[in-house]
Amino acid sequence: MTRKAKKKLLVPVVSHPHPQGAVKSRQLPRLTGRPGERAGHSATTAHLQAAYPFMAESPLTSAGVLIGHDAYGASFVYDPWTLYEAGHVTGPNMVVVGIIGRGKSALLKSYLYRQRVFGREAWVVDPKGEFRALAEAFGCEPISLRPGGEMRLNPLTRRGGSHGQQSLLRSVAQAALARPLKPEEDAGLRVALARADRDALPAEPTLPDVVEALLRPDAEMARTLVTSEAELAAGCREAALALQRLCEGDLRGMFDGQTSSGIDLDAPCVVIDLSAVSDSQAMGILMTCATAWQRGIVLDRKRRSEQRGEIGAKQILLLDEAWRATSHVGITDYLQQSFKLSRDLGVQNVIVLHRLSDLAAAGAAGSRERTIAEGLLADAETKVVLAQTPDELEQIGQSLALTKPELELVPDLARGEALWQIGQRTFYVRHTLSRFEWPLIDTDARMRAGEKKAA
Ligand SMILES: Nc1ncnc2c1ncn2[C@@H]1O[C@H](COP(=O)(O)OP(=O)(O)O)[C@@H](O)[C@H]1O
Ligand SMILES: [Mg+2]
Repeated sequence: MTRKAKKKLLVPVVSHPHPQGAVKSRQLPRLTGRPGERAGHSATTAHLQAAYPFMAESPLTSAGVLIGHDAYGASFVYDPWTLYEAGHVTGPNMVVVGIIGRGKSALLKSYLYRQRVFGREAWVVDPKGEFRALAEAFGCEPISLRPGGEMRLNPLTRRGGSHGQQSLLRSVAQAALARPLKPEEDAGLRVALARADRDALPAEPTLPDVVEALLRPDAEMARTLVTSEAELAAGCREAALALQRLCEGDLRGMFDGQTSSGIDLDAPCVVIDLSAVSDSQAMGILMTCATAWQRGIVLDRKRRSEQRGEIGAKQILLLDEAWRATSHVGITDYLQQSFKLSRDLGVQNVIVLHRLSDLAAAGAAGSRERTIAEGLLADAETKVVLAQTPDELEQIGQSLALTKPELELVPDLARGEALWQIGQRTFYVRHTLSRFEWPLIDTDARMRAGEKKAA
């Protein structure tokens, strides 16, 4: 049958757009005209595509991992790089948004697990400690960080390049200060990093090295900025103390030294477990430090595979509970740069939020911070919207170009159900879990955390 002929097929449908209704309607016998029943409505599939978007969708692609089923009951598959090659998206990044307990993490665990079949690698920042089972399924041990523990990661690793080091330092300093940097602080951080970098050779510079350089600047730093050592120290003192706080007290021994030896940097799944500090006010900053370290390793691996003339594996970098990071001043800057690098690096960044208004927490309306945070959404061409409370609908309507029927579905989406907006198209998708994946979802870590809380 030709494509044109197919389009003209007449199909019976029930005339309301709820996806469950739509799926059921395909299984129902033809309406018999019993009292109270309405006659079915007929239209061409070409018309239906406009009137009932969920019922008349054709898939974007048939290549990728199976996510579940769409409103038609057809398989829904997804792979950002396949979609990119086919021209459906111009970038691979993804934002997942949904209220607690609706299956955001479960969806992403099974997505990462299934992507392994295609050789993709999973890099996860795990603030709740619930990705251990996924790491173990890949034969890997999570990197568990805790204050005063044995494992350290250096976010100022040279592998991230000098631009990466600088932007991490700026973002972390702003977040620690809870305000934007003053020009002299910005310049002070730059020269302090340069000094720390030089003095640390052949090792890598660390956050305490930068703090030391800020508290006790040398003549060369002062000369570079055409000021005196005393003035430079006074201008940067507040920033130095804010960074110092991060390296001491409860947070010591996590991101304040050289990266520990013995970490397998070529593992197919690298999970950084931050659950030991899950209640920390500074969690968002710690998550960013973990992301910076990951970014350095990913950059380095890309460089190495290019030297060997290979393309190298694609990586999926997941920041679960990212709303804890976006609420800090300056952190969205850093995330935005990661988003911009994704195409060059062959990386998909995935960030998880409770609601789109989490992005508004980055700053006041019209502020630079808010604009950057909202830009993150624009840079993510895959948006997965799970259930949201009705008071979020206005924000969703403004941020995502959903039709009215699509928008009306959002508060009633059941667990595992989501609207997937990919480029210009939206799909209603029910995520399905195989029995092999259940152990990844209901993790021991979660049970232990529950026991700890109850105690
Ligand atoms: N697709 C699904 N099908 C069935 N149950 C699910 C599905 N997704 C999640 N669940 C259940 O819901 C629980 C909470 O899911 P989770 O992914 O942790 O939520 P969130 O990350 O949104 O807070 C899981 O432990 C699992 O029992
Ligand atoms: Mg979760």
